[in-house]
Amino acid sequence: MLSAMNTEPVFNNLYIQNPIFYCYTTMANRTQKIVVTSALPYANGPIHLGHLIEYIQTDVFVRFLRLIGEPVIYCCADDAHGTPIDISAMKKGILPEQLIGEIYNEHVRDFKDFLISFDSYYSTNSEENRKYSNLIFAKLKEKGLIYKKEVELTYCPKCRRFLPDRYVKGKCPKCGEKDQYGDVCEKCNSAYSTIELVNPYCAICGSAPARKTSGHYFFKLSACSKDLRKWLESNRNLQPEVKNYVLNWIKEGLKDWDITRDGPYFGFSMPGEENLYYYVWLDAPIGYIASTENYCKKGLRDLKSSQQKDADKCVDEYWKKGRIIHFIGKDIIYFHFLFWPAMLMNSGFSLPEDIIVHGFLTVNREKMSKSRGTFLTARDYLKVLDPEYLRFYYASNLSKTMSDIDLDFNDFKSSINNKLVADIANFAYRVLFFAEKNLGSKTASFSEPKLEKELKGKYEGIKEAYLNHDERKAVRLILEVGSIGNKYFQDNRPWELMKSKAGTAAKDRKKMEEVVSFCVSLIKDISIIIKPVLPRFSSNIEKQLSIKEQSWKDLGIKLKNHRIGKSAILIKKIENELDRFAVRDELSMVDLRVAKVLEAKKHPQADKLIMLQIDTGTDRRQILAGLAAYYQPEELVGKNIVIIKNLKPAKLRGEVSAGMLLAGGDGDVHKVIQAQKSKPGDKVFINGIEPMPENEMKEITIEDFAKIKLVVENKRVKYKGESLRTSNEEIFVELDKGSVS
Ligand code: 2FM
Ligand code: ZN
Repeated sequence: MLSAMNTEPVFNNLYIQNPIFYCYTTMANRTQKIVVTSALPYANGPIHLGHLIEYIQTDVFVRFLRLIGEPVIYCCADDAHGTPIDISAMKKGILPEQLIGEIYNEHVRDFKDFLISFDSYYSTNSEENRKYSNLIFAKLKEKGLIYKKEVELTYCPKCRRFLPDRYVKGKCPKCGEKDQYGDVCEKCNSAYSTIELVNPYCAICGSAPARKTSGHYFFKLSACSKDLRKWLESNRNLQPEVKNYVLNWIKEGLKDWDITRDGPYFGFSMPGEENLYYYVWLDAPIGYIASTENYCKKGLRDLKSSQQKDADKCVDEYWKKGRIIHFIGKDIIYFHFLFWPAMLMNSGFSLPEDIIVHGFLTVNREKMSKSRGTFLTARDYLKVLDPEYLRFYYASNLSKTMSDIDLDFNDFKSSINNKLVADIANFAYRVLFFAEKNLGSKTASFSEPKLEKELKGKYEGIKEAYLNHDERKAVRLILEVGSIGNKYFQDNRPWELMKSKAGTAAKDRKKMEEVVSFCVSLIKDISIIIKPVLPRFSSNIEKQLSIKEQSWKDLGIKLKNHRIGKSAILIKKIENELDRFAVRDELSMVDLRVAKVLEAKKHPQADKLIMLQIDTGTDRRQILAGLAAYYQPEELVGKNIVIIKNLKPAKLRGEVSAGMLLAGGDGDVHKVIQAQKSKPGDKVFINGIEPMPENEMKEITIEDFAKIKLVVENKRVKYKGESLRTSNEEIFVELDKGSVS
């Protein structure tokens, strides 16, 4: 198969498209196949709402292309290789194959429930992917783009494994950001190698790694700079902001890419090599092609060798003669705009026609956080809410930019209730219910040339918006169509026309039938224009209208003399469901408890520190406090103090402090905070903020605690204006004003 491939880079000839409005119907060859992909999610964790931005954005686009009759397929897969998966499986005591099998099933179920319409959802751990990985590697080698070199790598002697990218952390060599992984900096996006990290540490065991050499294969990315630049500059679809980023990287000089990893590694072993594997990022994007082959093989059961040829031909229709469109997040630009096109152009495949890059998700304007309770998985969401709400909300906020999308719960609720439900779903129900009751379900003919023309203009705009990945604009125009319908129904008052007296009755009856029939046809059109975003809602309308599945060309076709079906409520308002996602306050993560001081003495090597033996109610432990300037140790004995029980233990001048006591200070004095009427082990909290259940409490650091602002006011300790208390009393301190530390 490879012998038939082009040896020159294949530049897709579609870049001449007008970048603002791609007029697909006239410029693109209708029979040219299109493959659309979303990035492959790792097979070691659940799909979450952050992932779903991309799958929803891609799905809306693909469904739109299908609607206008393009020969498009949507291919994706689980990204199943690499160290994290290996280590997750190890920790669970199962084989990686078992882990990725379980996760695969969860992912498939989540995507299905969010109505993501893949034509193929596969795994990178497949024979097809092994085949294409070997083929592409061989092709690159044949072109002189691969060489082998001894490299010095980070090796953890304690874990007895090489530490690939994500298992060495340290400071970014470019921007200095702390705790970055060994491949790419999350802050400045630059890519580098693990040994470049400043102050590295093993992410598994924390120990300082050693250096060890090993023979690895490299891809001469540097040799592809010119071709990559040519591609980037000639491709008019790519987002300018992304392009500039990437062109800059090229200008700075590309580094060759180490595409192998030492065992133990979960991945494809390299033919002819012992204990050497393809790096996960080599075979991951190749998984797009393998998933396409999986699609091509569907229906070709018990594949015979002759049919393998058919499958190969089918793959070529997409990857050599077709149009390739990727959707990715802004964190993986480097891989998709440099490594991947360099691989494609040197192994006989076409280059992507477009790569749409989106931003990240924030929840209530902050990064999703497990501890705050805003890390929502697809499943968490589905237990409470309709998937089409999220599809609508994301579409309402998406466009072809890298800006982050904020899931603001208030905005979400009002967008669903006041736009989707009020303007679209209620309008549809109101009209269909009225038609059922008053038209005997049978529509009449009508003519509203002015409105029909206006609507046609809106539909054109919606089509253009979908094609340009401006989903936000598409939704805005759809809502405008809904408003036109609502206003028309309201202005013409069909319910009053019904009540006309003799004389005008026949004329008014006819008018009523025309008005309602116009609205019924408009609802049919709405079901078409909204279908990419809300496929289930759309097909429910089709059912209620008793019409076959519609496509874009059915827009504007009038439903006359048509018998419609039974009406029913289409989408409900959001009531209190969002309360289930109550965002947790940071204070709820601090395990504040009453403890009794049993013994106290000065730290032998630190003037300022007192060492306390305390009873926490469940154990006896030692904590250290910087109170020697304010208390004699014996004054503290017998007091019921307040401690942070889940603070990460620290060693201070050779002595362990397992927790910390709270004290108030005003610059001059420091006083311990007390709870004299309570007993050791009692919880300290404020009304309205429930501490997390004990089994969910995690260890916190002093930095975590520093973010929480506690103040002293009139001998009470306050948080957000409320007094901290136990179930018996408000805790207190011998101080009028100050801060707590
Ligand atoms: O960043 C990620 O989540 C990767 N699993 C994406 C891979 S996309 C493609 F290249 F396979
Ligand atoms: Zn280690």
